[in-house]
Amino acid sequence: MRQFKPEKLFEPRDFVKPDLSEKCYLEIGAGRGLHAIQFAQTNPDKQLIAIERTRVKFEDFAKRCAQQPLDNLTPVHADAIPWVVHALPPESLDGVFLLYPNPEPKSASQRWLNMPFFEFLLSRMKPGAKATLATNIHDYFTEAIKQANQLWQLPFEDFEVDKNSKRTHFEIKYLARDETCYQLDITKPKNYSTRFDD
Ligand SMILES: C[S@@+](CC[C@H](N)C(=O)[O-])C[C@H]1O[C@@H](n2cnc3c(N)ncnc32)[C@H](O)[C@@H]1O
Repeated sequence: MRQFKPEKLFEPRDFVKPDLSEKCYLEIGAGRGLHAIQFAQTNPDKQLIAIERTRVKFEDFAKRCAQQPLDNLTPVHADAIPWVVHALPPESLDGVFLLYPNPEPKSASQRWLNMPFFEFLLSRMKPGAKATLATNIHDYFTEAIKQANQLWQLPFEDFEVDKNSKRTHFEIKYLARDETCYQLDITKPKNYSTRFDD
């Protein structure tokens, strides 16, 4: 796998450095923000930064946030990759959510655990922090398990999502169609090192 090159990435437009003083979680690909808003409401002691790249979805998310402002939720319209590079120091995240990422059927290198960026993301997680991946694509799930195991050498738990779960718009749609959804909870162990720790 080619190595991730953070120094090549420009600062996103209208970039604002986040306040990382509280327990901080990151959601990448937040869509219309259903999970982000629910998480912020039920975890007032935790800060969530929720990033969405697609303008139409982000505008819907931002509208929801304006209707019910939450001090601990920061919606960000950006590509998460350069944003993470410019915004986050090493070991700053208490958890990461990757909920129903684009399946990228024709582009394996664009799936999160296949990306060189994943090592950078791991470096931004605190020891003991958890990355949660959910998908309805069984092949995506099994490939992610293999990568967590063999490439990244991380401990994980894998299971089926409860049929009554309603965390995101995509999850609601898939479970309503009686599809199975899968979840992988990866933990960053203590003493785990990456090339981006400094
Ligand atoms: C299939 S949708 C799922 C949205 C939401 N998580 C849900 O479950 O309803 C995947 C989302 O990830 C977003 N996305 C993909 N790559 C991204 C990136 N690099 N940065 C920010 N958002 C990204 C896409 O724009 C898309 O809205």
